[in-house]
Amino acid sequence: MNLIITDNYEEMSQEGAKMILRKILSSKQINLGLATGSTPLGLYKELVKYVRENNINLSGVATFNLDEYIGILPTHQGSFHYYMEKNVFGPLNIPENQRFIPDGMAENILNECRNYEKKIQQYGGIDFQLLGVGENGHIGFNEPGTDFTKTTHVVELTETTRQANKKFFGQVEDVPGKAITMGISTILRAREILLIANGVHKAEAIYQLFHGEYSKDWPVTALQKHKNVCVIVDQEAASLLI
Ligand code: F6R
Repeated sequence: MNLIITDNYEEMSQEGAKMILRKILSSKQINLGLATGSTPLGLYKELVKYVRENNINLSGVATFNLDEYIGILPTHQGSFHYYMEKNVFGPLNIPENQRFIPDGMAENILNECRNYEKKIQQYGGIDFQLLGVGENGHIGFNEPGTDFTKTTHVVELTETTRQANKKFFGQVEDVPGKAITMGISTILRAREILLIANGVHKAEAIYQLFHGEYSKDWPVTALQKHKNVCVIVDQEAASLLI
């Protein structure tokens, strides 16, 4: 695993954005796996800036989001559809037929999981997957205890995760209890993975990623078996490594 420690959040975001931009520029066609949450907001801002300033052509880019809550409309301010529209798709002008997010309002959620997984395969798989990490080590919404062999599936969110996401909803009671997420197996099939993390609250998860035992208790440790992972963290998130 390749580790880059940056001085601060801004530098982490710039390094991550540059890496994604290099990937986009070096391939005619690229399938990006994207994350939501607080961590990548700075990276997306940087990416939007570079793409706009340099008039980068994104016609060869398809995006697949990691996850979405079940039971809230895409227009809900806490939904990942809303987040992506506001921070990525809108500013980058990504056409609807080039972007995919699990449909948390689907009538048949299990079918939606299967179809999402199929869609990724039909496009030839994810070339480059961006990940954040939860304080409890979750990646996507694969909470501790999730089997590493799972593909896209339905998850029950833990109290910690719902608390961490209440900022997007106002109060914790409004954060949905369930979500659809790419499974760990889906994530591990990505050809290349970039994980970003900042802040001291992520230090334990980053420690586990590098030094913890490969275990379902810390889903992030699944990445230990992937051949092409880069981790960019700020000093605080790296504080237990040093
Ligand atoms: C988001 C996702 C989650 C987040 C994680 C960290 O699509 O899948 O795994 O990356 O919860 O969230 P933040 O960045 O808000 O700390």
